[in-house]
Amino acid sequence: MAPILKVVNVTKYFGGVRALEDVSLDVEKRAMVGLIGPNGSGKTTLFNVITGFYPPDRGEVYFKGRRIDGLNPNEIFKLGLVRTFQNPRLFFNMSVWENMLVIPQDQKGESLLKAPFTRLWLNEEMEIAKKASSLLKDFGLKDFVINKVSDLSGAHIKLLESARGLMGKGEMFLLDEPAAGVAHTDAHKIFSFIRRLRDEYGLTFFIIEHRIEVLMDYVEYVYVLHNGRLLSQGTPEEVMRDPKVIHAYIGE
Ligand SMILES: Nc1ncnc2c1ncn2[C@@H]1O[C@H](COP(=O)(O)OP(=O)(O)O)[C@@H](O)[C@H]1O
Ligand SMILES: [Mg+2]
Repeated sequence: MAPILKVVNVTKYFGGVRALEDVSLDVEKRAMVGLIGPNGSGKTTLFNVITGFYPPDRGEVYFKGRRIDGLNPNEIFKLGLVRTFQNPRLFFNMSVWENMLVIPQDQKGESLLKAPFTRLWLNEEMEIAKKASSLLKDFGLKDFVINKVSDLSGAHIKLLESARGLMGKGEMFLLDEPAAGVAHTDAHKIFSFIRRLRDEYGLTFFIIEHRIEVLMDYVEYVYVLHNGRLLSQGTPEEVMRDPKVIHAYIGE
């Protein structure tokens, strides 16, 4: 089967700083793949290039067989490739429930032309509400629906951001440190959720995580970046045994 995401020889410089050099990688559909590397190794930049926030200087990106480098972030999002951010982008003054309902794109109710078809519109709103409520339950957030986001704990905020990402038509998710700043046990909770979502919804996940020991329990394949280059790749066991990887982390 063709990979859902294909990155071919991507290079990205910021002025004289090499952020990415000749990076090529594949992610298979329904896979859970990790992206690790010391600070400044280019992980976030790679996600930014894949999702259209920065154009690559060289190289190509394919999603579901379609070339996407050159498209803007919104076009890429609409194709079903969703990213979350190291620092959550939520509406902190709104309730959990409201945050869940803001995201879906192309809702029929928003289109003036289609507004007269109220039945159609109502059905879709109902579907959206049902989906939101089932996701909040799956993510363990159902007790907080009327709470303001600003009142949630860090772990719950991270969970909400992922749940919200699933309200769109996402097929593949790029998660930038989904468990950043949360306690060890909560990190495991978040990764277990992600795995369950993969299994139940057939989604694909590409995940940056700096706590390698947590990530390794969940992903089946790992790419390692170092100074903008792909340093190593393989199963978690293979990568952890790779002397190049050990040296890169010791040298940090
Ligand atoms: N917008 C930017 N402008 C200038 N330099 C940047 C920018 N984004 C990232 N960099 C540089 O690119 C390199 C890779 O950064 P980044 O992708 O954030 O690494 P990581 O996420 O692995 O910590 C670093 O040297 C960083 O300083
Ligand atoms: Mg980063």
